[in-house]
Amino acid sequence: MLNEVRFVPDELVIEWADGEQSGFYALWLRDHCQMSASRHSANGQRLINVSDFPESLSIGQVNRLSEDRLEVVFEPDGHRSIFEAQWLRRHCYTLNEPWDDRSESAKTLWQADCFSGGLVRTDYDEYGHSREVRRDCLQSVQTLGFALLGNVPCESGAVLDVIRSFGFVRETNYGELFDVRSVVDPNNLAFSNLGLGCHADNPYRDPVPTVQLLHCLASSTEGGDSILVDGFRAAAILREEAPEDFELLTGHYLNYRFQDASTDLRSRVPMIELDDRGRITKVRYNNRSIDTILLPPAVIKPFYRAYRHYARILERPELKLTFRLNPGDLMVFDNTRIMHARTGYQAGGERHLQGAYADLDGLYSTLAVLQRETRPAAIGRAS
Ligand SMILES: [Fe+2]
Repeated sequence: MLNEVRFVPDELVIEWADGEQSGFYALWLRDHCQMSASRHSANGQRLINVSDFPESLSIGQVNRLSEDRLEVVFEPDGHRSIFEAQWLRRHCYTLNEPWDDRSESAKTLWQADCFSGGLVRTDYDEYGHSREVRRDCLQSVQTLGFALLGNVPCESGAVLDVIRSFGFVRETNYGELFDVRSVVDPNNLAFSNLGLGCHADNPYRDPVPTVQLLHCLASSTEGGDSILVDGFRAAAILREEAPEDFELLTGHYLNYRFQDASTDLRSRVPMIELDDRGRITKVRYNNRSIDTILLPPAVIKPFYRAYRHYARILERPELKLTFRLNPGDLMVFDNTRIMHARTGYQAGGERHLQGAYADLDGLYSTLAVLQRETRPAAIGRAS
């Protein structure tokens, strides 16, 4: 695996047998020391702090202990670190990308015709009994941004049991769960029978709930169909059609706000959020919840052009995945990516959904453990 190993005082350089090359800055190596003096033996967490190292830290000596092991001796303190070659290859910053499960790079962006073969509803009983089924369902939330469960018992509160199967309930001023059906004088349009345009929930919260679930308990109305739109896909289209509009929505922060008699929630965030590599990580589109738009005078006009452009992309029929939630159906979706909407419905008949919020960190953690547990034995970790 190791071909040639050389060092200068502040860098170790490895030429690998396959022709690749990795560089390791001395301070990085010391900070990533895997020895028991540097890492807790039970949990692997660092026992050292970067500020503990001397300013003059350097590599004094490198010894090849075997084909696949290196000992690095640091100066001036003489600390010895042994590194496995495989570990160095798997973790070097020259050849490995940072871990990322949130940005557009980790997702499969979609539009409606990607599901022309029909939507898969995972049977809730199978979900409860099979780790593989659970894994695939949660994996779908990670890559597509949503998953559908079928045959979830039509009982009040069942949505909370679904959340507890992968994470933790995020309680809000709406309670642990909220009922979506027509009420007189609703404090939120969601609780009326009006159609709702594409939106993400609760952009006025900081942090925003990153997972939403909607469980259908009754559905006998005319209309009231559900619509999902991939907000990342819509943002990617915006970037393609008008990079300057994309820049306006990523570069300017807005206030979002919700208030009623007992609540006043506010946030200040961009409509489209990017990570440090310029990749889309979150979208927040909710025309009902944007507070007064206060931007520099010179930006107002172009901002409205960009805002309308994005709004119109979100309304394009080819992006809208429309389907009916039947009693027992439950959709779980990434509220930082997937916009949801519904068509209006008549007052006759009954439409009753129960919704609740959770977070992606719990869901992704459960998914990662399920992937670890269900990984076929023959497939090892990439070196
Ligand atoms: Fe909503």
